[in-house]
Amino acid sequence: MLIDSHAHLNFEAYKDDLSEVIGRCLQEKMKVINVGAAYDTSLKAVNLALAEPSFHSSIGLHPIHVYDEEFIVENFQDLIKSSKGRVVAMGETGFDYFHLWQALEKHDKSVEEVKAKQAKVFKAHIKLAKENNLALIVHGRNGKEDKTAYQDIYKLLKDEGASRGVIHCYGGNLEEAKKFVELGFYLGFTGIVTFDKTGVLEEIIKWIPEDKMLIETDAPYLTPVPYRGKRNEPSYVKHVAEKIAEIKNKSVEEIIEITGNNAIKLFGLK
Ligand code: NI
Repeated sequence: MLIDSHAHLNFEAYKDDLSEVIGRCLQEKMKVINVGAAYDTSLKAVNLALAEPSFHSSIGLHPIHVYDEEFIVENFQDLIKSSKGRVVAMGETGFDYFHLWQALEKHDKSVEEVKAKQAKVFKAHIKLAKENNLALIVHGRNGKEDKTAYQDIYKLLKDEGASRGVIHCYGGNLEEAKKFVELGFYLGFTGIVTFDKTGVLEEIIKWIPEDKMLIETDAPYLTPVPYRGKRNEPSYVKHVAEKIAEIKNKSVEEIIEITGNNAIKLFGLK
């Protein structure tokens, strides 16, 4: 089954034509996990999942937003409770070292303070995921010079005893990928695989065990070829499957089946 394991139909980008976009998802007979980045977009993701049976939701506070609002555990716990089982994961959460400067400039914080704040919020997500038997959707992004985001994510997950989740839009190296998979994590691949020229993702996809890979759009961002430059949407995730099929020397149907089963298993989708 075609499953987009990470999309943001809950974002402003779809405010004018959401029902058309949803219609195209239904046409594909696919499932979609809409992911929150703050409390309001988490609530929207839950409401989408309550309205549309083929949608599920993940709720959390993105590391780039940890100074825009407080992560209030009770509010997220209440959201899980009221969601009738339609919340399947906590996140996205993790470390983002690419946008550190925003917090540094806007909020007058030091690098250490921002990293410590992201770690605190990340840990709170892990605790809620464990208490509610949910998966984790982890966001990582290295800085232009600071390439330690994935190492720090690995260390924190290991220290906190987390083993169920996905490192979404994977952007680390092969060595780090091996450690995440060893820990039990899945890796999520986006439209970047269709235009990445570095060869790193191809190397990782060649290596990754089939039962550990997921496909995703991260829509509205990261639009795959042949739609580069346009707004992304879940139905385009099949282009990610096509590229992975090519790299792994499988049929696209097989990749859709494998990644769909992986998502169903990880998130306990019904
Ligand atoms: Ni995302």
